[in-house]
Amino acid sequence: HGTSKVNEKGHLEIGGMDTIELANKFGTPLYIYDVDLIRKRARGFKETFEQLGVKAQVAYASKAFSTVAMIQIVEQEGLSLDVVSGGELFTAMAADFPAERIHFHGNNKSREELEMALTHNVGCIVVDNFYELNLLQDIALSFEKKVKILLRVTPGIEAHTHDYILTGQEDSKFGFDLQNGQAEEALKISMESSCLDILGIHCHIGSQIFDTTGFILAAQKIFTKLYDWKTQLSYEPVVLNLGGGFGIRYTENDEPLPPSKYVSEIIKEVKIQAEEYGMEMPEIWIEPGRSLVGDSGTTIYKIGSSKDVPEVRKYLAIDGGMSDNIRPALYQANYEAVLANRVMEQPEETVSIAGKCCESGDMLIWDLPLPKADSDDLLAVFCTGAYGYSMANNYNRIPRPPVVFVEQGASTLVVRRETFEDMVRLDLPMNEKVKY
Ligand code: LLP
Repeated sequence: HGTSKVNEKGHLEIGGMDTIELANKFGTPLYIYDVDLIRKRARGFKETFEQLGVKAQVAYASKAFSTVAMIQIVEQEGLSLDVVSGGELFTAMAADFPAERIHFHGNNKSREELEMALTHNVGCIVVDNFYELNLLQDIALSFEKKVKILLRVTPGIEAHTHDYILTGQEDSKFGFDLQNGQAEEALKISMESSCLDILGIHCHIGSQIFDTTGFILAAQKIFTKLYDWKTQLSYEPVVLNLGGGFGIRYTENDEPLPPSKYVSEIIKEVKIQAEEYGMEMPEIWIEPGRSLVGDSGTTIYKIGSSKDVPEVRKYLAIDGGMSDNIRPALYQANYEAVLANRVMEQPEETVSIAGKCCESGDMLIWDLPLPKADSDDLLAVFCTGAYGYSMANNYNRIPRPPVVFVEQGASTLVVRRETFEDMVRLDLPMNEKVKY
């Protein structure tokens, strides 16, 4: 997929760059991003809205992968940006991202974070709860600013990977409950506030979702309420933000829709609902994270030790693991992989790929068909672009790998490899003179 192919040496090539040469130059483990594919995904979302003639904002959910260079691409492609913390906001500002296109999320934004958002004049705050509603008004008053907000609601729909279940009473830490009157109370407070400009409603039903049923049910539930609010409170939203969550194909067992299909189906439903209730078609905002960057990322590892458990399995260990990709350990996530230096060779055995962390659960891939691999062969694990680097950690004091962007035969290092010095950067020695 993307610009990946096999070159005449039988090596995996991405963005016109031989991944073996990149591994030799930058070391392993190494995250490689196919920038061309990120741009293609970004344009795909934007063009779908344009073709349907619907006013929209496509906000990249930067939690999926937030670095200065990534944010610069998001800016070049004209997307908006979803941030969920002071750190993500700081990264966006460090990349000179236009603040008016930033949407600030989070279920427990601190006073400092909200002040930071108002100082930078971020485009919109997605208010999650009553505590925040109060705090934000307080800060807005002292800043003498009118703040654009969306109210995050939980529509009472839980989306699961393949499935969705309806829950009458949504049990979630996020948002105002739509069914029990919380959302309406928040709306009333916001409408009465002189320092809040309530643009509309937000909901996000889950992640790695393969069909549009959950989105459609959420839209229906929200419109039922919007109609009440229109008739009873004379409130009509300018914006309906339906969040992110569009699934991608990690393995052949995953069957996501094409990204544009999610958008067109959702819009079709919103148009029907708006018409049915005699309301203006709102602007539709979405927040894709995984579906914008997930399949653009590939991780290259070097194979080291192996262990046979006779008649049970063969373990092959790589030089990374749950420190650079915690998703298999945390969510039993599945990935596909090949030997990057011998892509065309037929699989001869089934192996299980172990990480190097001191934890039995640090297994990257179970039962992977591979050619007979030796130590020093390189393993390419696909679709690691979302929630890989962004969830990386220093467990076992393993330095985090670097990130390289490739595009049209050129490579750029956009995050350098952490060093052992970085591992102790924040450590302070004991001072024996200090009495506790
Ligand atoms: N908007 C909101 C409000 C969200 O909470 C999220 C993800 C997104 C957008 C983007 O969702 P996406 O399009 O990426 O599915 N760490 C997990 C995923 C956590 C998603 C959290 N919220 C994983 O690695 O699968």
